[in-house]
Amino acid sequence: MDKKFWSERIRGLVPYTPGEQPKDRVFIKLNTNENPWPPSPNVLKAIREEADERLRLYPDPEATALKAAIAKYCGVAPNQVFCGNGSDEVLGLCFYAFFTPGHKVVFPDITYSFYPVYTELFHLDYEEIPLNDDFTLPVEKFLGGNGGVVICNPNAPTGRTLPLSDIRRILEANPDVVVLVDEAYADFGAESAIPLLSEYPNLIVVCTLSKSRSLAGMRIGFAVGSPDLVAAVNCVKNSFNSYPLDRLALAAGVAAMEDVPYFEKTRARIMATREATAKTLRSLGFTVHDSSSNFLFITHPAMEGHALQLALRERGILVRWFDRPRIRDWLRVTIGTDDEMEAFCAACKEILGG
Ligand SMILES: Cc1ncc(COP(=O)(O)O)c(C=O)c1O
Repeated sequence: MDKKFWSERIRGLVPYTPGEQPKDRVFIKLNTNENPWPPSPNVLKAIREEADERLRLYPDPEATALKAAIAKYCGVAPNQVFCGNGSDEVLGLCFYAFFTPGHKVVFPDITYSFYPVYTELFHLDYEEIPLNDDFTLPVEKFLGGNGGVVICNPNAPTGRTLPLSDIRRILEANPDVVVLVDEAYADFGAESAIPLLSEYPNLIVVCTLSKSRSLAGMRIGFAVGSPDLVAAVNCVKNSFNSYPLDRLALAAGVAAMEDVPYFEKTRARIMATREATAKTLRSLGFTVHDSSSNFLFITHPAMEGHALQLALRERGILVRWFDRPRIRDWLRVTIGTDDEMEAFCAACKEILGG
C-alpha cells in the first residue's frame, strides 16, 4: 500500500480488527458477543414511530431524553451522563479527554484490544501490565505512579471480574488521575462501579447498549461520571462531531433503557445458558473460567486454539480466536440461544472425539 499521502500520525497505526461478520453463508455466530435475543419490542415500535419526515432535521445534539432515561436507570443526575455512537466512540473520546501524552496510561496485557489502538492514535504513552497466570488482575501494580488507569470489568476476553473492593483500592491509590472502568459486559453478572461515583471524582464508567440490550446495530454507548468529567468528554465530542447519535438511535435508546422487565428477562436467560454451557464444556475436558459476561473463555488440553476455531468454522460455527501471546490456545465463545450452545457443544464433542 502506498502511504505517501497518509498523515505521518497514522502511517504506523495498526487499527482494531473487529470480529468477522460473514456475508457468504449462515453461521451460528458466537464470535462478536452480540445478544442472541432481539431488542425489546418497544424499541422496534419507537424506531418505527420516529422514522418519518423529521429525519430531515438534525437530532438533539445533547441527547437529552436518552440521558434522562440513562440517568434514571443508573440513579445519577442527567449532567453525569454522556452519550455516544457506541461505547467504542465513547472510549475513544474519553482517552482523548482524560489522558495526556507523556503520562503513562496503564491497562492489562490481556484486555479489550481497542485500548492500545486509542493510545497509539492519540500518541499516549502506555504500559500493558501482565495479568496473573489465571487471568486475575494484579491489583497492587495498578496502585499509583501512572497517568491514568483503564480497567475492563468484567474483563474481555477473559470474562473475569474484579470485585468492587479492588476497584475502590485502585481509585483511592490514583486520586489525581482518571480511572476508566469499561463495563460493556457488567450487566451479565458483575457489580457495577456506578454507585462509587458519589465517592470518587476520578471515576468514569463506560457502558453500552450493544450487549445486554441487544442493540449492537444501533450504536449506542454512554459514560457516567462527575459533571466535570462529563463536561470534558462533551468538549471533545463537540470538537469532533456534534451529532454522534441519530434520531432513530436516540428513540431506540430511550425505549431500551425504559423496558427494564425485558432487559431483566433476556439477561437472566443468557446467564442461565452460560452456566449450563460451562458445565457441559467442563465435562468435555475444557478449562472454563467463571464468567460474569455474555461469553466464555475456554481452552482444551487436546487441541490448539486456532485448530479448534477452524474446525468449528467448517461446521458452521464462528468463535473468536486471538493471535496474541498467552492466549493463543484460548477461544472466546459468545453465549447464544440454548439451541445454538447445544450445537456448539455437540460440535466440540465431535471434533475432540475425532
Ligand atoms: C470491552 C468492550 N468495550 C467496548 C466495546 C464496544 O462496544 P460498542 O461500541 O458496540 O458499544 C466492546 C465490544 O465488543 C467490548 O468488548
